[in-house]
Amino acid sequence: MDLIRDAAGIRAAADAARAGGRAVGLVPTMGAFHDGHRSLIRRARDDRDMVIVSIFVNPLQFGPGEDFERYPRDEERDLGDSELLGADLVFAPTVEEMYPEGYPPEVTVDPGPLGERLEGAARPGHFRGVVTAVARLLNLAGPCAAYFGEKDAQQLAVIRRMVRTLGFPVEVVACPIVRESDGLAMSSRNAYLSPEEREAAGCLFLALCEAAELARKGERDAAVLAAAMAREVGATPLALLDDVAVVDEATFEEIRDITGPARAVVAARFGPTRLIDNLLLPM
Ligand code: PAF
Repeated sequence: MDLIRDAAGIRAAADAARAGGRAVGLVPTMGAFHDGHRSLIRRARDDRDMVIVSIFVNPLQFGPGEDFERYPRDEERDLGDSELLGADLVFAPTVEEMYPEGYPPEVTVDPGPLGERLEGAARPGHFRGVVTAVARLLNLAGPCAAYFGEKDAQQLAVIRRMVRTLGFPVEVVACPIVRESDGLAMSSRNAYLSPEEREAAGCLFLALCEAAELARKGERDAAVLAAAMAREVGATPLALLDDVAVVDEATFEEIRDITGPARAVVAARFGPTRLIDNLLLPM
């Protein structure tokens, strides 16, 4: 497995693979791997001939006062995991390689209204930072399949939209959320939780399951589902509800009645740590 830190290097490696008839898969990450990341690499390995994993803690997607400085980093372990999982190349650029015109970049990608709702409203500028970095990575990797986890479902929707709008020759592949035994979605930020907060964080999945159960029983009023989720999180000591909604699967607009594919989404704080989760609702 090769480790490449410069932009020209990843472009040349991906071009050479395609010239040799090999299909390229890209797994964009911010490192600090957990089983969710590992599942993306495995999926790319199964699907494609050449697997590129990128590791870059993208400062542009963190707001002032957010956790950019303390975001977990363990490059050595991530490189070992990538190799074990059969990645061909890890691209771990510097900020200068990612943003060669200077940081912060003057030119960024506007994620549009989809990027201003929910997570976008809670974290202004977050999705602009995400899609600007992802656009750069997709541009360097060239025609490929790119793998993202459904844990960040709104991010996935924004990226899909960008890829379609700007015509990137990329197939976006959504991979299922990987959960702990109590249902907590794996996230690098789970490492911030105290043991008590970690136990409390299980309420996110319970809340989503309640919403799914109501939908399964035929409830179509989104407000009823949202209220049930809010009650579950609200009843959990140490959990502070930030956001709860039922949204249209494609636009992430809040809906009143469930008439098509819809997703329940929830965000809550456990101490200083903000966690998000979501579940596609049964029809
Ligand atoms: O999901 C992430 O890890 C990041 O948002 C991504 C897609 C790698 C962009 O920096």
